[in-house]
Amino acid sequence: MTQHKPIKKAVFPVAGLGTRFLPATKAIPKELLPIVDRPLIQYAVDEAREAGIEQIIFVTGRGKTAIVEHFDIAYELESTMEERGKDMSVLDPTRATPGDIITVRQQVPLGLGHAIWCARAIVGDDPFAILLPDELMVGEPGCMKQMVEAYNEVGGNLISVLEVPQDEVSSYGVIAPGAEISDTLTEVTGLVEKPPVAEAPSNKIISGRYILQPEVMRTLETQGKGAGGEIQLTDAMARMIGNQPFHAVTFAGNRYDCGSKTGFVEATLALALEREDMGSEVRAIAERLLAK
Ligand code: G1P
Repeated sequence: MTQHKPIKKAVFPVAGLGTRFLPATKAIPKELLPIVDRPLIQYAVDEAREAGIEQIIFVTGRGKTAIVEHFDIAYELESTMEERGKDMSVLDPTRATPGDIITVRQQVPLGLGHAIWCARAIVGDDPFAILLPDELMVGEPGCMKQMVEAYNEVGGNLISVLEVPQDEVSSYGVIAPGAEISDTLTEVTGLVEKPPVAEAPSNKIISGRYILQPEVMRTLETQGKGAGGEIQLTDAMARMIGNQPFHAVTFAGNRYDCGSKTGFVEATLALALEREDMGSEVRAIAERLLAK
């Protein structure tokens, strides 16, 4: 088996304004909204770490510094908790190793492709991962680990995909699937961002996880505006097909679209129901509410 350069860096685009969740997101980044008791960004960072990622790159913007605070050591909090003999293990995943978190700013909201391009100097010549924290992916192993396992086999570029009802495809990036390599791995022959339903090449959508070769940064350099007048990552990836291997991994697990309010509520309910410490209580509450 060919040895592919390991994936050690991940880019998290977190500069978005979060207008869909106003007024909740007026002073708080949407990535810090909690699903039960963990902020969204924490799920994505934990998923990346599980996959062996060591360097976390946040593409951030004005008003988003609280995200970086979340991964710092909170001296006042920790010393007070220690004095009181409280269990602090819950904070373990929030303490980053010094130097592991890097931020770059996206000064103007020109699109996802532009956000990723803002991280080009940090990514350098390494293949890297991208995780969109809005997409909450719950699986064992996690989505990024499943993708890294596939990457170790085929190398090149990979995106995670899942099937949605045909009438929803125009909200997403959609793939044109090619040859099936296995039950979960398919070649990608085309990509289109937010196509009209009638023109979508399939109902398989990009679900917010990517492993890309650094050449995408060069492609993004010359990428014009696409769907919604934004510089789209999907368009830059589409231009790489044919020059580089491109595969889609069908994620085995559950995906929650936390960019929408209903998806956010669904995620909250689903994860609360699965929790050992509260699942049965939440089930009883849900049943009582539904019986009304
Ligand atoms: C972005 C991507 C799109 C992908 C989606 C997943 O769109 O551009 O290809 O399917 O994330 O959530 P956005 O949701 O930022 O419009």
